[in-house]
Amino acid sequence: MWGDTPPEYLWYDGKMTPWNDANVHVSQGHIFAHSIFEGIRAYWNDEEERLYIFRLKEHLDRLYRSIKLMRMTSEFKIGQVTSASSEVLTINGYKEDTYVFPTVFFDPMVYLNKMIGPTHMFIHTFPHASKLDKPDGASACISSWTRINDNILPARVKCWANYRNSAIAWTDASLKGFDETLLLNSRGKICEAPGACVMMLQNGVVITPPVTADILESVTRATLIQIGREVLGLEVVEREIDRTELYTADEIFLCGTGAEVSPISSIDNYTVGAGGIGPVTEQFRRAYNDIIRGIDTRYEEWRTVVE
Ligand SMILES: Cc1ncc(COP(=O)(O)O)c(C=O)c1O
Repeated sequence: MWGDTPPEYLWYDGKMTPWNDANVHVSQGHIFAHSIFEGIRAYWNDEEERLYIFRLKEHLDRLYRSIKLMRMTSEFKIGQVTSASSEVLTINGYKEDTYVFPTVFFDPMVYLNKMIGPTHMFIHTFPHASKLDKPDGASACISSWTRINDNILPARVKCWANYRNSAIAWTDASLKGFDETLLLNSRGKICEAPGACVMMLQNGVVITPPVTADILESVTRATLIQIGREVLGLEVVEREIDRTELYTADEIFLCGTGAEVSPISSIDNYTVGAGGIGPVTEQFRRAYNDIIRGIDTRYEEWRTVVE
């Protein structure tokens, strides 16, 4: 299970289902390699006393791109899953930052040459506090493991099988004493972290690898590109990045639904900037925090109010 406290209910194949009744048989426990998912956050606004789901539409659009790409079909329309995502938060009564995890999986009895067609779907939720108020810099290394490429598995969507590549790289880095790692793609260019995208600042310009660099098509990356340009008035460029560019970057940060805006303070033991959170990363952190919680009321279309 993800999260310390199980929710009372999951949404499972169209029904609100008590936690203990949402089962698959032990013989089918390998479903994760047969599944795709989304990681979505709902943020609590203290003053308004309500939850906002952040960029639900974009996450569910990607869920349905994952379904298509992995040759799955679902009996549930995107509108039903949109409503179910709010309803499962309401029924569990959350009043804190919470994760929403829709997962779609094949019946595990399908064999490798028949992995096509109908699926099951569940939406699992669990409280998970934002780390945006604790912006400590992380140490990172360049991984000796290469990121899967688009001709191996589609890194652009959230397919659980991709995360074996993430896990082997991150565990390796962690055993070597680093908090984080960045993988190169098969062309030897900077790709992404095991669970987040990367941005660097050089001479006042924000630079991030393009969506053709074998990265996940990250919702947060797209959000920060827009915030960088429209809110912070920065130049943001999507282009390939060499590893040695990171060694002399002024600032580096990871971004993602889980990572939010997370500064990197060293890379392969090269100190990044002054070693803490850089001033531009700090601007992104504040702007992102205010927008996700609806403190900054712009970009209303990015927030779904949980009624
Ligand atoms: C491999 C990978 N890259 C990037 C991201 C960031 O994506 P998003 O901003 O859509 O959460 C994630 C987050 O789940 C991820 O797992």
